[in-house]
Amino acid sequence: MYRESFLKEETKGDFGIVDAFLENDIDEFLISKKNHKIFINQGNNITVYEIDIFIFETEEIDYSFPVIFCEDETKEKMLNEKFEELKKLSIAGELAAGTIHEIKNPLSAIRGFVQLLEKSFQDEDKRKEYSNIILKELDRLTELIREFLIIAKPSDVKYTIGNINLIIKDMISLIEPKANMYNISVKALLSESIPEIKMNAEHIKQVFLNLFNNAVDAMHDGGELFIVSSFNGNEIITEIKDTGHGISPDEMDKIFEPFYTTKNEGTGLGLAICKKIIENHKGTISLNSQVGEGSTFTILLPLKGD
Ligand SMILES: Nc1ncnc2c1ncn2[C@@H]1O[C@H](COP(=O)(O)OP(=O)(O)OP(=O)(O)O)[C@@H](O)[C@H]1O
Ligand SMILES: [Mg+2]
Repeated sequence: MYRESFLKEETKGDFGIVDAFLENDIDEFLISKKNHKIFINQGNNITVYEIDIFIFETEEIDYSFPVIFCEDETKEKMLNEKFEELKKLSIAGELAAGTIHEIKNPLSAIRGFVQLLEKSFQDEDKRKEYSNIILKELDRLTELIREFLIIAKPSDVKYTIGNINLIIKDMISLIEPKANMYNISVKALLSESIPEIKMNAEHIKQVFLNLFNNAVDAMHDGGELFIVSSFNGNEIITEIKDTGHGISPDEMDKIFEPFYTTKNEGTGLGLAICKKIIENHKGTISLNSQVGEGSTFTILLPLKGD
């Protein structure tokens, strides 16, 4: 770090005074502070200097002067960039490892049922039963790969203009049979004044379907699923509220992570994908929950998402 104080000849190079300011309560003497970044291009290397300009004033010393702190930030910037790169790679690696782990189960099921199919090919009932299981497992594999790609390759997503309310209504009709089964009432209050926005309808459908499914899964003893949509002039706000078992503060940190699940049949990719899809739309998803009372997921989607 380079330091220089100037204005009055007496203070030049007198870092004792500067250090005294810094060690004590400098706010007392500080009149203003400005921060600038300077980028110096040297061949292929860009050096970044961060400059802090403090202006001090004190009656004791009887003069005011600026102090400039100049720091070569290049190394720190490079290290930060490398760290971000490594973080991305490790997330991609974790995701790939998790997906491969999830792929192993359907693959071994398919292998087993192909062997059974070979043995009992003459028996029509068995042939149908085993073929159906194989097809179901193949669909599961396709779905897993599709979900993996949403997280790993968001740049491939195509956007068109669409209406969120229509998607919510479609997804409610998909979840209703399962909700009825568990004695859950589904209510929606959808504002008519919601504008159309640029979105990937298939992905947004997936967000609502997963949130509705999660809500129903949290209310196997019955309850209420309440969906509200509104528009505040800049963003479309949707709230998905359930009266289920709720989520503890400990769990709240984990539920958006890929492969975190408390369900026997879950992959734990649902909320990680919801978050990624909403982020791809430049929006946010947040959560409010009380154990024993229920959870509310809030999605904000900006009108100008691109
Ligand atoms: N509305 C909710 N109420 C209570 N717990 C919830 C709710 N939504 C999510 N969770 C918790 O968060 C975990 C992660 O949810 P997520 O949707 O990512 O995966 P999943 O539902 O377990 O599996 P998948 O969606 O992949 O089938 C769930 O297993 C559950 O423990
Ligand atoms: Mg889920």
